[in-house]
Amino acid sequence: MRKITVVGAGNVGASCALGLAQKELAREVILVDVVEGIPQGKGLDQWESAPIEGFDSRVRGTNDYGPAAGSELFVVTAGIARKPGMSRDDLVRTNVEIVKAVSQQIKQHAPDSTIIMVSNPLDVMCWVAKEVTGFPRERVIGMAGVLDTARYRSFLAEALDVSVEDIQAMVLGGHGDTMVPLVSYTTVSGIPVTQLMDRKKLDEIVDRTRNGGAEIVNYLKTGSAYYAPAAAAVQMAEAVARDKKRVLPCSAWLNGEYGLKGLFLGVPCKLGAGGLEKILEVELTSKEQVALHKSADAVRQTMATVTL
Ligand code: LAC
Repeated sequence: MRKITVVGAGNVGASCALGLAQKELAREVILVDVVEGIPQGKGLDQWESAPIEGFDSRVRGTNDYGPAAGSELFVVTAGIARKPGMSRDDLVRTNVEIVKAVSQQIKQHAPDSTIIMVSNPLDVMCWVAKEVTGFPRERVIGMAGVLDTARYRSFLAEALDVSVEDIQAMVLGGHGDTMVPLVSYTTVSGIPVTQLMDRKKLDEIVDRTRNGGAEIVNYLKTGSAYYAPAAAAVQMAEAVARDKKRVLPCSAWLNGEYGLKGLFLGVPCKLGAGGLEKILEVELTSKEQVALHKSADAVRQTMATVTL
């Protein structure tokens, strides 16, 4: 790609910009933030690492969207993060206003771009961006499932003492306590995980996955996770920038898939140059189906508190 812009130069945004540059996913990586000096300083610092790391993506920080004009892809991380005891939904009032303003800028400066949303509460922020920009669902995709699945896979790999690379899994649903790890589709190189681990241990891991974000917030106290969230957003950006046709769990606007309509929710998606190229409808157990609909209800409840 020619240009990718990361909005928000906090820990997630800055880590994202560096990841995008290190993978050379675009000639230019623009880092935008409202705080004066921070995007410029972090962008310059990252660019100065280029001769050591050996990448030619030019990282540049800015307070205005001028340099972001014509970006093909945006990764939106702007907003406040959680503190201990807060749920992602507690962020909604502040972050709606921020994401609205960001979406207007994206619409104005890069009307043909694709947005990867990272700000929380994730599924609701995706909806805000889609409404404000008027972009089709192919071009607004939310990062949550890749992160939640990575947490699940890392816990499984540790418990089974096998490579993380051999764990295949999907976590669907909203990015919240109601997320739905699909145990029936969790395998170790094709071997159903239920053949390798007892149910009690598996349930513990599923539970830890659901609370994975809070576990980090409780350690950090002043903010939330950023290494894994940034890695997840970069993986999605790579799928789009390199037209990889990756099948990843992402938050997508549902139009009847899984019996759900009119909201963003985590489902298996194919990502390529066209953004969200396809939603894969897979068979779910009745328990998983119920859990997915319960998760949709939770997202709808938060949507109902927002006026656009
Ligand atoms: C998390 C936050 C960023 O899951 O939503 O860590």
